[in-house]
Amino acid sequence: MHVINIGRIHGIVDSEITHLRGKRMLTGPRTIDNAFITVNGDKITAIGDMDSFVEAKDDCIVDARGGIVIPAFCDSHTHIIYAGSREGEFVDKIQGLSYEEIARRGGGILNSADKLHHTSEQELLESALYRANLMMERGTGAFEVKTGYGLNTADELKMLRVAARLREAVDARVKITFLGAHAVGRAFVGRQADYVDMVIREMLPAVAAEGIAEYVDVFCDTGFFTPEETARIIDAAANYCMKAKIHANELGISGGVQVATAAGAVSADHLEQLGDEEIALLAKSDTVATMLPGASFFSRLPFGRARLAVDNDAIVALASDYNPGSSPSGDMRFVWALGCIHMGLLPAEALTACTLNGAAAMELGHECGAIAPGRDASFIIVKPGISVDYIPYAYTEPFIAARVIRGHMA
Ligand code: NIG
Ligand code: FE
Repeated sequence: MHVINIGRIHGIVDSEITHLRGKRMLTGPRTIDNAFITVNGDKITAIGDMDSFVEAKDDCIVDARGGIVIPAFCDSHTHIIYAGSREGEFVDKIQGLSYEEIARRGGGILNSADKLHHTSEQELLESALYRANLMMERGTGAFEVKTGYGLNTADELKMLRVAARLREAVDARVKITFLGAHAVGRAFVGRQADYVDMVIREMLPAVAAEGIAEYVDVFCDTGFFTPEETARIIDAAANYCMKAKIHANELGISGGVQVATAAGAVSADHLEQLGDEEIALLAKSDTVATMLPGASFFSRLPFGRARLAVDNDAIVALASDYNPGSSPSGDMRFVWALGCIHMGLLPAEALTACTLNGAAAMELGHECGAIAPGRDASFIIVKPGISVDYIPYAYTEPFIAARVIRGHMA
C-alpha cells in the first residue's frame, strides 16, 4: 500500500531514536512535505518526496489529498479491563466527596474489584474490547493495560487472562502490567502489611508463572502504598524479570519518584505533585515521566508540571489513564489538548509526548511512535486543511480521515 499526496509527514525520526528528551521533544522529529509512505505488511518500508514516487502496477493507492500524517498515539497507561462503571461516585464527587474519602468508604478501586469478581472473563473481554476500539477509532495504535481490579490472586490472574486475549484480538500493540498493589484487597482491609506480603509471596510467583505480564506497578501514594512497600514489590518482581512502571505522586509527594528512579523503572506515572527534587531526579534518569492530564481534568487535581519537566530535560510522555474512577476516557487527542492548554506544552511537543515518548514508556520506542522505514505502519491520515497546531486547538472537531494500525487500514 502507498499513501500518496501527503501534505506533510510529522514525527520522522532515525531508526536508533527511541525517545526524545527535553527540548528535543520539539526539535527532534523531522517533517517532509508533499510526501508518500509505503507500507508492506505491518511495517513502513519507505517514505519520501512525491517527486520520487514510482507506482508499480496493481499497487494499492490511498490518496491523502494534501492531508498531513502523524504517528498513531501510544497510550502507555490504561486500566481498560474493568466491570461496570462508577458514575455514582462521579455524582458523589460533584457533591463534594474527595477521591480519598470515596476510597475510605469502600468505594473507588474496591468497588470495581467487587464488580469484577462477579463478572465473567468473556464479559470483561467484551467491555475491554469495546474500550480498546474506542481508543483505536480515536487514533491510538499501541497501548498498555493493567490489572489491579482483582486484588486477590484468582481475580488478578483472571484479569491477566483477559488482557492476553485482548492483546490477541486487536491490531494495536498491547503491553500488560501487573498491578496487584493497586489497593488493599477486601479480605485484607486493615492489614496492609499482610497484603503486601501476600502480593510478594503468592501473587507475584503466580503471575510470573502465567508469563503474561511484562511489568509490575504499585500505587505509591498518600493513603495507598508506601515507598518502602513499593520498593519491596519492585525488588521481588525483578527476580521474575518484570520491570516497573509506578503510580506516583498523584495525591501527594509520595516518595514514588525516588523509588522509581532508583530502581530504574521504565516509567513513573501521574506526577500531579512534583517538587524540584523529583523533577531533577527524573531529568537525570531514563525513567519516562508520564503525566495523565485526563485524571487531573476529571478528578480536579492539579495538572502535572510538564513544562518544567521538559525544560529540565526529562523524557515526558502523556497518557490517558483510562479507568472507571479517575479518567473514564481514552481519547488521546483530548489528552494532547490538555497537555497544551493546561501544561504549557506546544502542540508538536505534546505530540511527541503522546507518540514516541509514550512508546518509550512501553519499551516500544524502537518500533512505534514515529514514522520511519522499519517501524510499525501505525499512523493517522488527517483531513485535508488541518495542521498539527489545529488538532488540539479545535479539540472536539473530527480530524481523522483514515487510520492505519500495523498495516490495517480503517
Ligand atoms: O490511575 N491512581 C490509581 N489508580 C487509577 C484510578 C483507579 C480507579 O479509581 O479505579 C488512576 O487514577
Ligand atoms: Fe492509573
